[in-house]
Amino acid sequence: MLRHLATLADWNSQDIWETLELAAHLKREHRAGISHQPVLEGMTLGMVFQKPSLRTRVSFEVGMNQLGGRALYIGPDEIKLGQRETTEDIAIVLSRYVDGIMARVFGHEVIEELARHATVPVINGLSDLYHPCQALGDMLTIWEKRRTLEGLALTFVGDGNNVAHSLIIACAKLGLSFRIACPRGHEPDGKVVAYAQKEGGQVEIMHNVREAAQGADVLYTDVWTSMGQENEATERDNVFQGFTVDEPLLSTANDGCILLHCLPAHYGEELTYEASRHQASAIFDQAENRLHAQKAALVRLLG
Ligand code: CP
Ligand code: NVA
Repeated sequence: MLRHLATLADWNSQDIWETLELAAHLKREHRAGISHQPVLEGMTLGMVFQKPSLRTRVSFEVGMNQLGGRALYIGPDEIKLGQRETTEDIAIVLSRYVDGIMARVFGHEVIEELARHATVPVINGLSDLYHPCQALGDMLTIWEKRRTLEGLALTFVGDGNNVAHSLIIACAKLGLSFRIACPRGHEPDGKVVAYAQKEGGQVEIMHNVREAAQGADVLYTDVWTSMGQENEATERDNVFQGFTVDEPLLSTANDGCILLHCLPAHYGEELTYEASRHQASAIFDQAENRLHAQKAALVRLLG
């Protein structure tokens, strides 16, 4: 039984594969109009948000409904995580009411604190360090499009951020090589890279976008300024000039390369609108797959 999903480091490669297989099964059922077994009937997911969200909020809520359960949205102004009472007490109290906690937070240590004290599973819906639910949906998308994961080369263009960190771990556990092209000073966290390498992952850090895109089977990008970094936005806009994924860059990647972005996108910054609508782009399948991947994670954690 899986306990939490704070980071994909909590799960081994078999856990991840079984989740992807279940996600693909649930997606096929859903597409065929077959109602799922109500395996989460009577269960409630508490969803705590310190930051805004479209995909995470809606896909978790819809996913719980489709599995027979329900989800409760707890916004930034309600429990005032970290201000009104301790995170420890919030974890203990919420565990008396709900069957699982999904939280989107600023500091990753808040997820760790919730996981330490909750008696129900805790799912990280994005922290400053990781975005594991995103990486699960991403791997499902790549697997669907390419029919394999092992041996593929993924190049991430941009900031060594939470999305990049979860991809580094997912790639290491599922046999894809990971390369990032980032400005100096925006490399991924050394501890995350060291963990991935210890797990047998290949991680390459580069500063030249064109060189990094060569040989890529997947090109991935994300915003230059993440939620919580808004006061650095002007400086980041300067530092990240040239780190834009556009159609010419796509044409330097391997034939059949797919383009991914976790969304929300800032067109004209990290990604051009034209590239986002290119036939290589799978960004909206990727957004949809958050639903299927998280439903599988919910079944495995709460079911
Ligand atoms: N990709 C993602 O997590 O989107 P939201 O911020 O809209 O949830
Ligand atoms: N890196 C982005 C991802 C948003 C889904 C952020 O943290 O804002």
